[in-house]
Amino acid sequence: MEHPGDESEPSVSGKAGKAGNDLEQLQFGQQQSGRFSLLPGSSASIRELGPRHRKRIARHLLALDGHDRYLRFGYIASDEQVHHYVDGLNFERDDILGIHDRRLQLVAMAHLAYSVDRNLAACAEFGVSVLSAARGQGLGQQLFERALRHARNQGVEQLFIHALSENTPMLKIARKAGARVERDGAESRAYLRLPPATLDSQLGELIEEKLAEADYRLRRQAKQFWDFLAGLQEVRRGVRAGRHKSSP
Ligand SMILES: CC(C)(COP(=O)(O)OP(=O)(O)OC[C@H]1O[C@@H](n2cnc3c(N)ncnc32)[C@H](O)[C@@H]1OP(=O)(O)O)[C@@H](O)C(=O)NCCC(=O)NCCS
Repeated sequence: MEHPGDESEPSVSGKAGKAGNDLEQLQFGQQQSGRFSLLPGSSASIRELGPRHRKRIARHLLALDGHDRYLRFGYIASDEQVHHYVDGLNFERDDILGIHDRRLQLVAMAHLAYSVDRNLAACAEFGVSVLSAARGQGLGQQLFERALRHARNQGVEQLFIHALSENTPMLKIARKAGARVERDGAESRAYLRLPPATLDSQLGELIEEKLAEADYRLRRQAKQFWDFLAGLQEVRRGVRAGRHKSSP
């Protein structure tokens, strides 16, 4: 579900200005700048993205380097091809899931693409990407699990993952969920049969969605507040600098 006004874009570098950084360091002293850190054992909030998030999705995918784009799309997608992919996303038919950092930058996203063939209506394909600064913390795994639950609740019976055989993390994720992996030279295909939805699986997903929305609202509020304080700090700095200049 989309929410109006939730597209406050992070800066291109994903970093706050100088004043913002000072304030963030006060608040998040332990955290390395530019690195997304999830507390060990905790889960990320996963939200559904909509058409208003196209810019954010493009920014995420454009931040992937050539090798990552090769792993994600099966070829080294140019910036133009990435834009073409993003423009062509069908939010009515497919589901796009995302994980944001505290600056509301999209650090990980998954695309659950449903079959367009009526005879294969119960099939879907999973694709995912995590920014390099956020890898190895289970985000890929969590997006996969969330996509599985979602696909199951949508009546999907078989999920497919197309990955290069060299893509150890992706194949690990698929195997861990019980997928059958068939290797065909440089490429591998993973198939996973999903059980039918139950009341539990549907309620579980509903609760997850509500929690993720509440978490995102809090982060947005916090970001707006820190931006506001950063603005105040800039003004104070300007006033102080002005005083120095005018003093004899
Ligand atoms: C594949 C990708 C999404 C994995 O994301 P991630 O958040 O780093 O993955 P996770 O942290 O959830 O790790 C999943 C598993 O892979 C393992 N893993 C992570 N990085 C690894 C690496 N470089 N080499 C070997 N194993 C690795 C993890 O240990 C974990 O296994 P475990 O549960 O047995 O410990 C990420 O590497 C990526 O975006 N790659 C580029 C795009 C891509 O390949 N997409 C997939 C094709 S659609």
